Amino acid sequence: MQRLDKLIASQGTRSRSETVRLIRSGQVTVNGAVCRDPAAKYDADTCRVTVAGEPLCYRQFVYIMMNKPAGVLCVSRDPKVRTVVDLLPESMKRKNLFPAGRLDKDTVGLVLLTDDGDLAHRILAPKRGILKRYQVRLDASLTEEHCRAFAEGITLADGTRCRPAKLIVLENGEQPLAEVRITEGRYHQIKRMFGVLDRGVVWLKRISIGNVVLDPSLAEGESRLLTDQEYESLHF
Ligand code: URA
Repeated sequence: MQRLDKLIASQGTRSRSETVRLIRSGQVTVNGAVCRDPAAKYDADTCRVTVAGEPLCYRQFVYIMMNKPAGVLCVSRDPKVRTVVDLLPESMKRKNLFPAGRLDKDTVGLVLLTDDGDLAHRILAPKRGILKRYQVRLDASLTEEHCRAFAEGITLADGTRCRPAKLIVLENGEQPLAEVRITEGRYHQIKRMFGVLDRGVVWLKRISIGNVVLDPSLAEGESRLLTDQEYESLHF
């Protein structure tokens, strides 16, 4: 059983104060009847709630996609540097949110945030080998040799052998643009893979995790909840 205001606000689309206002003004129904008491308690799994005429599809956990900007840490909290959780709008913040998988401070693009530890574990488990796609700009041109090295599996400078990966050259030249597809997530993996090939990464952006693709309408720093379809696709 939980308080009605908490139950609604926990879904990450409205702040607690906005929720209280909606409840007090009679815009919330529970099991077909208006409820004006924000402190009334209900079982979230069985009650039927509508907010401003729309049915509330209750989820115990939230799942958020963010287009991470550079200069922000991919952790929940940091005493000095802004984190991805700090960037979330107030309406999406809830306790225990964390990024499921890290990007470096200077890497941009898709980050999934959730408070569902089991789902994060499934996404990150190396044996699942979930495909992650990145766009990368490099400091020198690429050749067929580089693509072959990725396909064979690169051995990092410390002797770690990476799984076979894919390097697709999108634009070649002095600062080529390429897509990289990997199925693991080692520390600084892409930078270290290119380091072995004597190429420096000047810009890196994650564009997908499994079937969840970064929404092109999200500007850097913006977030939105995953759609039902995106959420389902994480449960392969
Ligand atoms: N590989 C890297 O080197 N950095 C990232 O942020 C992600 C993958």
